[in-house]
Amino acid sequence: MRLSVIGCGYLGAVHAAAMASIGHEVVGIDVDAGKIEALSKGEAPFFEPGLQEILSEGITSGRLSFTTDISAAEGAAVHFIGVGTPQQHGGYAADLTFVNAAFAALLPHLSEGDIVAGKSTVPVGTTAELAPRVAATGATLVWNPEFLREGWAVQDTIDPDRLVAGVPEGADGERAARILREVYHPAVAKGTPFIVTDYATAELVKVSANAFLATKISFINAMAEIAEVTGADVTQLADAIGHDVRIGRRFLGAGIGFGGGCLPKDIRAFAARAEELGRGESVNFLREVDAINMRRRDRAVELVTEALDGRVHGKKIAVLGAAFKPHSDDVRDSPALDVAVRLKGLGAEIVVTDPQAIDNARRVHPQLTYVADRDEALRDADAVLLVTEWDEYRREMDPEHVSALTHGRVIVDGRNGLDAAAWRAAGWTYYGMGRP
Ligand code: UGA
Repeated sequence: MRLSVIGCGYLGAVHAAAMASIGHEVVGIDVDAGKIEALSKGEAPFFEPGLQEILSEGITSGRLSFTTDISAAEGAAVHFIGVGTPQQHGGYAADLTFVNAAFAALLPHLSEGDIVAGKSTVPVGTTAELAPRVAATGATLVWNPEFLREGWAVQDTIDPDRLVAGVPEGADGERAARILREVYHPAVAKGTPFIVTDYATAELVKVSANAFLATKISFINAMAEIAEVTGADVTQLADAIGHDVRIGRRFLGAGIGFGGGCLPKDIRAFAARAEELGRGESVNFLREVDAINMRRRDRAVELVTEALDGRVHGKKIAVLGAAFKPHSDDVRDSPALDVAVRLKGLGAEIVVTDPQAIDNARRVHPQLTYVADRDEALRDADAVLLVTEWDEYRREMDPEHVSALTHGRVIVDGRNGLDAAAWRAAGWTYYGMGRP
């Protein structure tokens, strides 16, 4: 099928390349000329495992192309909208500027029978508002939320655990659902659940999934706070409750909490939308989820201060990680960088390292010192702070080897990813989050 993808960021670029890799003819469209130039050469403009391969494969095969010219969308059977919906400046609600601009640009190029499939995360009610404008062109609007995780985006797009389509009532909706099933044929053929709903349900599936995940993380971080005053160990607690299949161990990783371009802004936008709908109290707990999450960053700063006997001023701290999570170079609302910046504010000498995110981190926080080499970052450090659990730090860092590099022997494990016993056995003072 011929497809267009409007917006070539984390979501759109991966979607375009993934759709080409399953056999479609795809044009990716974005207003950012630099991004389009890189993508056209088959170069991924950000780090995402597996993207580079399917991008160059798509370009070489001729099935995948990129342009800044919106008229290239003409002739595609399905137009995916994958632009960003960031948090508003000075507010909690979602900023729909890019969604509105994408629709305004696309509408004149639609033809009778086209499908427009929104993938961006939008406040519930957005699709119903946009639908009449799309219908006036003879096309049909559906909402087809995306559940990909950064770091696993290619796999999640090609082989998702479910597909959701919010469609209008009647024959147009049925036809649109049938066409979307064709688009996702490999996943549909292997029996991936394909859930057809109304618009509001599809929009809510997306935000409620992220709200649930954020709540699960803040739940375990709240337990970490209780563990901290009782001497309990939150990682053992998570293992024990996680064996209950109704609870499950995933997303019970206590530490410095969640960040990134999705969970934080999505729970805030959800709370803001619920407020507008007169149902603020229904999701009031999300404000608490947010507050618990932000407190973990304070706690990490407190632990480092404690580890350095109350004085961080003038101390050299090696910060391992800048990305909001491993396998990503994304530093949007990164807890790792936030903690580093706060320690810098207290007068510490901060040296940050990360396998992928240094360039992005430097752009946002040029006041920090960055080094690419982990061992160079560790050299002469008074304390070590692990904030992004890359394998390079979690699995491949030998305490004896680190001892030969650093000045101090204190390590703060902001992700509870290290083997505490091994570090203690090597003479280190180990601090975890919610662990004795
Ligand atoms: C999240 C959702 O997981 C995706 O399903 C969704 O599609 C995406 O948002 C989106 O809306 O686009 P992502 O932002 O890539 O995906 O990251 P997650 O893997 O959810 O991690 C979010 C944050 O939670 C990270 O900072 C991570 O370190 C933290 N986290 C995760 C924890 O602190 N503890 C855990 O146990 C798990």
